[in-house]
Parts: sequence; C-alpha cells; structure tokens
Amino acid sequence: MVRDIVIYPDKRLKLISKEVTTFDSELHALLDDMYDTMVAKNGVGLAAIQIGVDKRALIINLPEGDNEDELQLRENTIEIINPIFVQKEGLCKHQEGCLSIPGVYEDVERAEHVVLEYYDRHGNKQTIDNHDFLAIAIQHEIDHLEGKVFIEKLSLLKRKKFEKEWKKRRNNTL
Ligand code: CO
Repeated sequence: MVRDIVIYPDKRLKLISKEVTTFDSELHALLDDMYDTMVAKNGVGLAAIQIGVDKRALIINLPEGDNEDELQLRENTIEIINPIFVQKEGLCKHQEGCLSIPGVYEDVERAEHVVLEYYDRHGNKQTIDNHDFLAIAIQHEIDHLEGKVFIEKLSLLKRKKFEKEWKKRRNNTL
C-alpha cells in the first residue's frame, strides 16, 4: 500500500528511530508499504520515518543501468534493519535528493567506503561492504534513522538559501 510521505520540515523527521525487536508480519507489512511508496514516488531509498514510523528500518533499490526510469524490481530491494557501521572511510561528493524534500538536489560529502552490519526482514544478520552509490544511499538513509536530513550537511549559506526558497515554495502551494 502506498503511504503518504512525511515532508520537511515535519517534526517527525527529527525523531531518533527505535530498534526493531520483533521480525514479524507487522514489520513485513511495513517493509512492503515502504517499497510500494518508494516506487510510486520514484525514489531510490526510503526510511520508515518517511512514512511516519519511527523504526530503524530502511530500504534501497538502485535502478540497474544509468536510466532511472528502469524497473526497480522487488527482488532487487535491499531491506536494512537495525544497521550499524563497522567501517567508514574516505570522502566523496555526490548529488543527493530526498522524497521528504522533493525537487531539491544538492552535493553532499560522505564517506566513500562503508562496511555495514544489519538484519534482514527475517532477523538474519547480514553485511554490506560497498564503495559505490549504494554506500552513499546507505549513509543518506541511516541519517534519517538519526533524525537528520541531507540539507543539514550543506554550508550555512546554502542552507539559508534552501530554507528561504523552500518556505516560498510551500507558501505558493498552500
Ligand atoms: Co531522504
């Protein structure tokens, strides 16, 4: 089921999400709704809090190839529960966007290489070792679990410019 996306500056985006303790049908339904919502909104990643659920769960589905319109197959979705970084190194800069701040794209600095431990939907421990765009997406989504959004990583000047334009845009759409 497609759910509503929580849009910035909704206070829920500042919540620190809670550990998942039971890997049950409720969690599976949440992950399924997250997938439906992410695909419907043309996103490549989504954290549970972005549909208003403060659980440490996120999904990522990077389209294959360079064409973002390509199918995001269900089976290619990575479901990440209770993630912990065991390694983070290097620096790189990529353009990021966020379904909670639609239409805004900015360059953000992140670690280049990450090693992540997490659980899948069945409670099995998994590891990801990545230095491609997946590493960037993971860091973006884990920030959501910590109550952070990517525009907080911009310079003060860029942040002020964003806040001004965002306010103007919101006033125009009300
Ligand atoms: Co986001």
